[in-house]
Amino acid sequence: MARMLSTSSHNAWVNLLTSWGAACALVLAATASAAAPASSRPTPVPGPAAAAPSAPSTVLAPAPALAPASKADTMAQRLLACTACHGPEGRATASGYQPRIAGKPAGYLFQQLRHFRDGRRSHAAMATLLAPLPDAYLREISEHFASQDLPYPAPGQRPPPPGEARRAEALVKNGDPARKLPACAACHGALLTGMQPAVPGLLGLPRDYLIGQIGAWRTGLRHATEPDCMAGISRSLTPDDIGALASWLSAQAVPVPAHPAPAPTRPLPQDCGSVRP
Ligand code: HEC
Ligand code: HEC
Repeated sequence: MARMLSTSSHNAWVNLLTSWGAACALVLAATASAAAPASSRPTPVPGPAAAAPSAPSTVLAPAPALAPASKADTMAQRLLACTACHGPEGRATASGYQPRIAGKPAGYLFQQLRHFRDGRRSHAAMATLLAPLPDAYLREISEHFASQDLPYPAPGQRPPPPGEARRAEALVKNGDPARKLPACAACHGALLTGMQPAVPGLLGLPRDYLIGQIGAWRTGLRHATEPDCMAGISRSLTPDDIGALASWLSAQAVPVPAHPAPAPTRPLPQDCGSVRP
């Protein structure tokens, strides 16, 4: 039920923001082409942003793109279109679904932006915003959010009952050798704050978001770079495991500081395309 409610209010948000997001996409695209050297400017593709009825006819017109950046034109201002959903400075809101993006490993954020732009992850408003942006600009956006070092709020979720907590903690710390499931912590870091350059932390994320992501891997809606280790891991988890993991993870306090662990010196327990150089 909680999932249904948050999904419908989330959809209302998306509807509200899709038309406005189209206008923001123009600003992002204009600043992207202004930032890129002439030789690497993408050919503007008339995507959904251009087709939106509210979009002005001067879609991707060169004038604003070529105007010199004013002092006030900071990266943070250009990314207001993102922080409307992801919270001020990308630190997430109380909506119950939008994930925090501040402080995540830059390599991870970059790959996710490419996945949304190129259809390997699915979110209509984000796809519209990102469609015209070249990789170089996505990298800049990722570095901007990765460099944000902001405190996390106390967890909003109550811990699950002891049985569920034990099941979740065992999977997180030891995995389940009988199912060839490695410990989540082996890749997501001993403190679960992620690992450089491309494994995200698992704490400070809404319960519904965690369930949504594991579910999306199981149904093939979310893809990572091949070999997609999380697809196999998600399919080995039972619905009870997923419920327990999401409840337990979302109830943990985020350690201070919450920096991702350094890159591993030994190979991860499974090959993940996301972390290959
Ligand atoms: C309309 C609301 C909305 C807007 C606008 C938006 N996002 Fe998102 N974003 C979401 C939602 C919802 C998700 C989770 C989608 C899913 O279920 O996979 C998400 C996911 C992400 C993720 C993946 C996070 C993770 O932990 O895997 C990144 C990175 C991201 N957004 C960055 C951005 C950037 C950068 C912008 C601006 C260009 C932006 N978003 C604009 C709603 C939004
Ligand atoms: C072999 C390494 C490995 C193991 C073990 C592993 N993960 Fe992951 N996980 C990853 C990688 C790599 C990513 C980033 C994938 C991508 O690029 O989209 C990821 C991403 C995720 C995400 C998406 C987070 C976000 O912000 O969207 C969730 C949720 C997740 N893992 C949960 C788990 C859980 C729960 C376990 C234990 C049951 C686990 N993972 C075990 C490597 C691993």
